[in-house]
Amino acid sequence: MRTILIGLGTIGQSYCQLLENRKEDLLTNYGIDSKIVAVADSKGVAIDEKGINISDILSVKKNNKSVSELSIGDKSKTSIDLIEEIDAELLVDATPTNIQDGEPSASLLESAMKTKKNIITANKGPLALAFSSIVEKADYNNVILKYSATVGGGTPVLEFGRKCLEADKILEMHAILNGTTNYILTEMDDRGLSFQDALKEAQELGYAETDPTLDVDGFDAAAKLVIMGNLLLGKELVLNDLKIDGIRDITQKDITKAKDNGNTIKLIASVNNMAKVEPVVIPKDDPMSVAGALCSVKFVSEFAGEEIIIGKGAGGMETASAMIRDLVEIKQNMRV
Ligand SMILES: NC(=O)c1ccc[n+]([C@@H]2O[C@H](COP(=O)([O-])OP(=O)(O)OC[C@H]3O[C@@H](n4cnc5c(N)ncnc54)[C@H](OP(=O)(O)O)[C@@H]3O)[C@@H](O)[C@H]2O)c1
Repeated sequence: MRTILIGLGTIGQSYCQLLENRKEDLLTNYGIDSKIVAVADSKGVAIDEKGINISDILSVKKNNKSVSELSIGDKSKTSIDLIEEIDAELLVDATPTNIQDGEPSASLLESAMKTKKNIITANKGPLALAFSSIVEKADYNNVILKYSATVGGGTPVLEFGRKCLEADKILEMHAILNGTTNYILTEMDDRGLSFQDALKEAQELGYAETDPTLDVDGFDAAAKLVIMGNLLLGKELVLNDLKIDGIRDITQKDITKAKDNGNTIKLIASVNNMAKVEPVVIPKDDPMSVAGALCSVKFVSEFAGEEIIIGKGAGGMETASAMIRDLVEIKQNMRV
């Protein structure tokens, strides 16, 4: 499958690595012969219509250089040029999330649809801002749009709801969707750390960004909830519709009070008749009450009742595994 890959950080590199690791299996079991014909990072592009050697891409990125240092293709091209001018069947988008205007991802998706390329995206930004119009546009252009990696890392949250509960009706969902905040709350509870100390530790361990706003103020969880609510409950939600409250104001006093009653505090994203993200006191032994950077999602459906799925909510290879799952599904459903 001729592929254009934009974004070569943790996720883009892991996707390349997994394509290499599973090369034989993908070909033998699914008939997928993946060929990366163009790549881009924030500083430039590389193009080879015959297929770029994946180990060359990984080696240049491991050395903290731009793919533009691979001396192949016209260096003056932009990511949008690649999508609009190169013959390919698939765009893989692993660019950074932006919940202000969805860029650069929003324009990449737009160009891919215009040029009839199927899409795998790990970027939740555009979907959180305009889910229904993007999905409609993909449908109108006869393009397959897959976004498993936007919720739950490698944990098949969207697939579980979409496939396993297909014949049932999901009534509501409650979820811990952000690993960074869950790590902070777990450390505040287990080791008595203050919010600031737990955040600092999360930053040192690489869980939290230098600017932790997206995580600690609840926006990352909210963006994921928007995607779940649209896909699985048919709600026409956008990020602005949600009531969002993060964990910045949680104190050790709040944690101790919850603990004294056998409870703990978790950042819960929930959608039923309304959609919100807020710190909630829940029993410590609630099966949803996972520790550290795990995520958990409780589905409440009409006939199956309550079911909980738990897994790693982030990580390079974990998330790339969700994208490979998307790749297999695209191959099985390709209309061309
Ligand atoms: N990390 C996770 O565990 C995880 C899990 C699920 C979903 N995601 C999502 O996956 C996406 C990628 O995450 P990541 O952790 O891989 O991020 P990252 O490590 O920051 O990598 C981002 C990549 O995008 C490139 N980039 C930035 N701006 C660009 C532009 N305008 N045009 C082309 N390329 C551009 C960067 O270029 P340089 O290499 O030149 O900096 C870098 O290669 C994000 O949307 C994230 O929310 C991540």
